[in-house]
Amino acid sequence: MTKQYNITLLPGDGIGPEIMSVTVEVLKTIGKLFEIDFNFTEALIGGAAIDATSQPLPPETLSICRNSDAVLLAAIGGYKWDNLPRAQRPETGLLQLRAGLELFANLRPATILPQLIDASTLKPEVVEGVDIMVVRELTGGIYFGQPKGIFTTETGQSRGVNTMAYTDGEIDRIAKVGFETAQKRQGKLCSVDKANVLDVSQLWRDRITKIASDYPDVELSHLYVDNAAMQLVRAPKQFDTIVTGNMFGDILSDAAAMLTGSIGMLPSASLGSSSPGVFEPVHGSAPDIAGSDIANPLAMILSAAMMLRYGLNEPAAAEKIEKTVSNVLSDGYRTGDIMSSGMKQLGCRAMGEKFREFLN
Ligand code: IPM
Ligand code: MG
Repeated sequence: MTKQYNITLLPGDGIGPEIMSVTVEVLKTIGKLFEIDFNFTEALIGGAAIDATSQPLPPETLSICRNSDAVLLAAIGGYKWDNLPRAQRPETGLLQLRAGLELFANLRPATILPQLIDASTLKPEVVEGVDIMVVRELTGGIYFGQPKGIFTTETGQSRGVNTMAYTDGEIDRIAKVGFETAQKRQGKLCSVDKANVLDVSQLWRDRITKIASDYPDVELSHLYVDNAAMQLVRAPKQFDTIVTGNMFGDILSDAAAMLTGSIGMLPSASLGSSSPGVFEPVHGSAPDIAGSDIANPLAMILSAAMMLRYGLNEPAAAEKIEKTVSNVLSDGYRTGDIMSSGMKQLGCRAMGEKFREFLN
């Protein structure tokens, strides 16, 4: 029997629409192969939404997302909107979407594909075999803590404030996702904090340690974030699963991404406990190359695979996409960001077409 899913598409800005249209074609092909009927609804977010409605996340978009089975998001942001007040910036729309759907858990895998070892800036022996999952808390911490804003002091100075805060409940629920993710992988969880300086991190460490007693099969370690950043580039193979707060996860997931050669290869999943998940590439909207048909669509395509696996429980279809990425690369096809000598360079659309050829 054909299964039906309602998917919200949020192409956003910059290269977003280009990589989204390639990915939608890939999903249509996958649908035929696996008897899945995708019903796509496109909605506005980010700069595109600001231009059309003056809000980065129009309420209509949030309600379309809420009523779907999963949300595919490409990328948001661009120079054009960088100087608007914060409430009207594209990034605010993304944060409102995460908060609005209560997507507290962000999974960011960084896996090096053997075909791309030479694309990494690190030595092959350092990155070969790297397979890390960063579990980033996504709806708390310094991104959302109060008070925040730019205030005027009694002496007339401007003072910018953000607050890094976590409740035990917020830590416990992301801790569980971290431990459960590690259980399904190599059974190693590294919690990253700054407990030597920050009280919020001390609570983080205490709670993670407490929750660990429910997961005796997981080997838990703790690292301070500065050391974790160093270890990620020094000896990344020591990591299996990393669990950390919102801002540390933002920073470390970019660093982990570069181990794999290009941020243009990495997908992510943002999950809540009841709402549909949002699946998006880790990279941004790359306004400098927007419209030139050279973007790498593979992170977006792999995000669709994460959607199939984590959002729709269609692991076979997800695996098919992941295997196809590997096959396309093994045959020497590359976009510019992962190009190396002797390989065949394709643009964004051509990569999508090649990908569908390999799917069939
Ligand atoms: C990310 C991005 C976002 C973040 C920005 C665009 C708001 O860097 O998803 O990593 O900081 O979370
Ligand atoms: Mg980031």
